[in-house]
Parts: sequence; C-alpha cells; structure tokens
Amino acid sequence: MLEGTKINNPSQMASVFDVAKDTVLFLLLSCYYILESFFWTLVPNVIRPMKSLKGDVVLVTGGAGGVGQHLAIKLARLGAKVVIWDICKEGLQKTCTAVMDEGYEIASYIVDLADRNAVYAAAELVKREVGKVDVLINNAGTVFGETLLNLSDTAIETTYKVNILSHYWTVKAFLPDMIKTGKGHVVTVGSVAGLLGTYRCTDYSATKFATVGFHESLFTELRAHGHTSIHATLICPYYINTGMFHGVTPRLMPMLEPDYVAETMIDSIRKNEVNCVMPGSVRYLLPLKCLLPAKMCWDLMHRVMKGPQSMMEFKGKPKVAGG
Ligand SMILES: NC(=O)c1ccc[n+]([C@@H]2O[C@H](COP(=O)([O-])OP(=O)(O)OC[C@H]3O[C@@H](n4cnc5c(N)ncnc54)[C@H](O)[C@@H]3O)[C@@H](O)[C@H]2O)c1
Ligand SMILES: *[C@@H]1O[C@H](CO)[C@@H](O)[C@H](O)[C@H]1NC(C)=O
Repeated sequence: MLEGTKINNPSQMASVFDVAKDTVLFLLLSCYYILESFFWTLVPNVIRPMKSLKGDVVLVTGGAGGVGQHLAIKLARLGAKVVIWDICKEGLQKTCTAVMDEGYEIASYIVDLADRNAVYAAAELVKREVGKVDVLINNAGTVFGETLLNLSDTAIETTYKVNILSHYWTVKAFLPDMIKTGKGHVVTVGSVAGLLGTYRCTDYSATKFATVGFHESLFTELRAHGHTSIHATLICPYYINTGMFHGVTPRLMPMLEPDYVAETMIDSIRKNEVNCVMPGSVRYLLPLKCLLPAKMCWDLMHRVMKGPQSMMEFKGKPKVAGG
C-alpha cells in the first residue's frame, strides 16, 4: 500500500522539494499577512484609507427593507449612484423619498428576486438606464420561521430562490461588465445563521450556509483568474432589529441595530474586506463548534444561550400594507 507513495524517483523528489519551497515561502508571507491584519485591526476606521464610492453605481437588493434602506441612504451620502430593487412597492417609495429628501438621486425597480427572468430583465434595464453596476449588494432575504414539517414546499422553494438562487442571476448579469472594466465588488449578505444552524431555520440557515459557499467559491474563481481588482465581501450579521425576526429575544446579546449594520457593512466594503462577521466577538465563538464535543455544543446553545427557545418566540414580520 505504502509502496506506491515511496519517494524514490527524481521527479517525486523534485515535487517534494517544490512543496517544501512553497511552504517556506507561504510561512514567510504568513508572518506578513498576520502582522498586516493585526496592524489594520489596531488602526481606527477614521484614519484608515478607504475606497471612495463617489460616482459608483451601487445596486442594493432588498432596498425597501430594514438594512437595505439604511444602506441606500448612507451610500447616497457617500456620493454613490444608488439603485434599489425590491418586491415591495411602498417600501421602495419610502426609501426613495428618504434619499431624495436629503437632495440625492436614486433609481428604484420593482423586482421579484424569486423570478429569474424578472431579475435578468431588470438587470438589462439598469444597465441601459443607469449604467454599469460597480458594486452589487445582494442583501434581500426572506424567512418563514417554521419547523421543517410545518414548512410548505413552496415556502422552502421561495427561501432558496430569494436567499441564494437570486445571487447567481444577479452576479451572472453584472459580473461580466465588472471584469471588462476591471472594477467591481460583489457583496454577499449571509448571516450568523449561515455559520451555525438554528431552530425553525432548516430552509433559512441552509440558504445562508449556501451564501458562504457561493462567496468563497466566487472569491477563489476571481483570484485564480487574476481578477484581483474585483472584490468580494461576505457579511454575516447576528440578529438585526428590523422586524425580520420579530418576537425573538436573544438571551445573551441584544439584537444589532440596522443603522450599525449598514454602517459596518459599508466600512467593510470600502476596506475591501473578504469576510465581515458582526458583532466581531462572534468570530471567536464559531471555532468552538468544530472543537467541542457535539453534546457540549448543544448544551451551550440550549442551556446557556437559549437559542432554540428564543426562536420559538418567532412571530415574523408584522404585516404592513403592501409590505
Ligand atoms: N434581521 C436579521 O436578524 C438578520 C440577521 C442576519 C442576516 N440578515 C440578512 O440581512 C439581509 C437584510 O435583512 P433585513 O433584516 O433588512 O430584512 P428585511 O425583511 O427588513 O428586508 C429584506 C428586504 O428584502 C425584500 N425581499 C424579500 N423577498 C423579496 C423578493 N422575492 N424580491 C425582492 N425583494 C424581496 C423585502 O421586501 C425587504 O424589503 C437579509 O439577507 C437577511 O437574511 C438579517
Ligand atoms: C405546526 O403547525 C401546527 C398547526 O398550525 C401547530 O399546531 C404546531 O404547533 C406547529 N408545530 C411546531 C413545532 O411549530
């Protein structure tokens, strides 16, 4: 068995030497990467050089909702040409009014992200009416909040269509122009629920896990093909106080405010970060999932954090007219 792997011919010796050489190079570079990352962690945002979004076309899906609305306003203030997509007409109107009240322009489109053809059609319209999209923020999301056996088949399909499949259609529509011009940024909104499964989230969590795989693979493809000026950022927030998870009262950490999430997200984009988990402290808890025994993880979740119990209080978005 081991015979076959014996290092006994020159070409294999060479390849071992290559691996050793690359490993040493990697270790040396790693020292630099770690120091660089440490350095930037210590530098406060205000004095950190961040890319300007002035004049950039930034498309935000789900721009009628909580985080999306805050993103639209903040991006407009930074001088970006904001385009928002949403299925909710009234919400789009509200975001547009809020942005225009401050004296900025904005373009909005009613799009059902669950409808692939509608996404492609809207993308063509944006390219014609506004221009090339420089930053694509796949922010729209939906959650039903039912246990597996209580989820209808169509609900499961809708969650997949909105939360992950739509990312394929939007990226396929806008990435080619980013590559052509050598400038672009694809932002994927995942969730902490995409790093850790939770109660009443078999569909939601699974689609958010999928966003992680989507982002990581897309990042790899961009880098492998030398498109170093096209950036990809994954945003994984903890619960946000937007009404999406209405009724849930997490035990240990309060929900994040949508204003803070939008601000942190824009900073992360402007720093060309690859991953952004918020709050940052969650980053240090996640590895425990792989290190601790499964029974211990469950006990930590159930007894200390009371995650499942808090999701049992899920009531969903309070119904608003047209929302
Ligand atoms: N709220 C949270 O606790 C939380 C936590 C982690 C991650 N996230 C993610 O952050 C993102 C923003 O969430 P939010 O809290 O602002 O949610 P939200 O419900 O306030 O806003 C989401 C927006 O997406 C839109 N949308 C839903 N289905 C659509 C469809 N088929 N076509 C077009 N638009 C559609 C909605 O109309 C809404 O305006 C989502 O991807 C969500 O999954 C939310
Ligand atoms: C599933 O739905 C039924 C009917 O609405 C309800 O009585 C039951 O409590 C639900 N089960 C769970 C686990 O939520």
